[in-house]
Amino acid sequence: MEKLLPTPLGPSRRILLTGGLGEIGRGVALRLARDGHHITLVDLGAEAEGEATLDAWTTGDPAIRTRLAYRRADVTDPVGIGAVIDGLAGLEIAIANAGIVRAAPFLEIAAGDWDAHLATNLTGAFHTAQAAARRFVRDGTAGLLLFTSSWVAEIPWPEITAYTVSKAGLEMLARQAARELAVHGIRANLVAPGIVAAGMAKRQYETEPQYRARVDRVIPLGSLQSVASVAGAFSYLCSPDGDYLTGTTLLADGGASLHAAD
Ligand SMILES: NC(=O)c1ccc[n+]([C@@H]2O[C@H](COP(=O)([O-])OP(=O)(O)OC[C@H]3O[C@@H](n4cnc5c(N)ncnc54)[C@H](O)[C@@H]3O)[C@@H](O)[C@H]2O)c1
Repeated sequence: MEKLLPTPLGPSRRILLTGGLGEIGRGVALRLARDGHHITLVDLGAEAEGEATLDAWTTGDPAIRTRLAYRRADVTDPVGIGAVIDGLAGLEIAIANAGIVRAAPFLEIAAGDWDAHLATNLTGAFHTAQAAARRFVRDGTAGLLLFTSSWVAEIPWPEITAYTVSKAGLEMLARQAARELAVHGIRANLVAPGIVAAGMAKRQYETEPQYRARVDRVIPLGSLQSVASVAGAFSYLCSPDGDYLTGTTLLADGGASLHAAD
């Protein structure tokens, strides 16, 4: 019997982005919309709140607004994120970007905090990726799974053990998916940012003097990463130029991982 080839992706792609209302989510969504893609952002906020946020982000740019939509879902709930994914027309790319971090020294990590990191950063990404991959197979789409990892997936960094472990797990999740789903024409890759002047790192940088001092020593390129740099990495992986990549991590960290963390 002749093998049915999955439908290849065109230049303008339909993308789901979890953690879309966060600071990196915002930068990635706007960049991908400017690239000509259509993005459905998913986050914990109510639907009206999400749509109002998108209005505010795109004031004066109605063309970009038409390429953005918002749906509420909690990625730790497989039924909720699954329903959103099943309800989207012609999904082609899913980006598992939702994440949390709560700093705590190893000896003081609370069991509940440990569980919350794995539930959101790792299991939530699994639920997102599995629901999207099932959808791609059902639709015969050569879909793409993307994950927001971190340079600390490979490098221990003080006081965020649960976070680094969750990101290390994410790396293997993506490589497993890449290996096992290639037969369906589905690919999986990760973006591993460095220390970004936005979102969770910025909050720590502004409120924890010890963290700030450490960060100021460990980035060889000398400055925090811009959101635009992270968005550029996603832009490449979502573009036709990235179509031969699978099972790979695009590490964009200003050289932070070259440095011994102290
Ligand atoms: N900021 C950095 O320096 C940095 C560096 C490397 C990687 N990252 C990764 O980038 C991603 C985005 O982080 P950010 O810096 O924009 O942080 P952020 O806190 O600004 O955004 C995270 C978003 O995820 C959402 N979220 C959390 N739990 C969720 C859930 N259960 N279901 C749905 N949405 C949920 C939050 O509501 C928030 O909008 C995370 O995966 C983070 O680990 C961040």
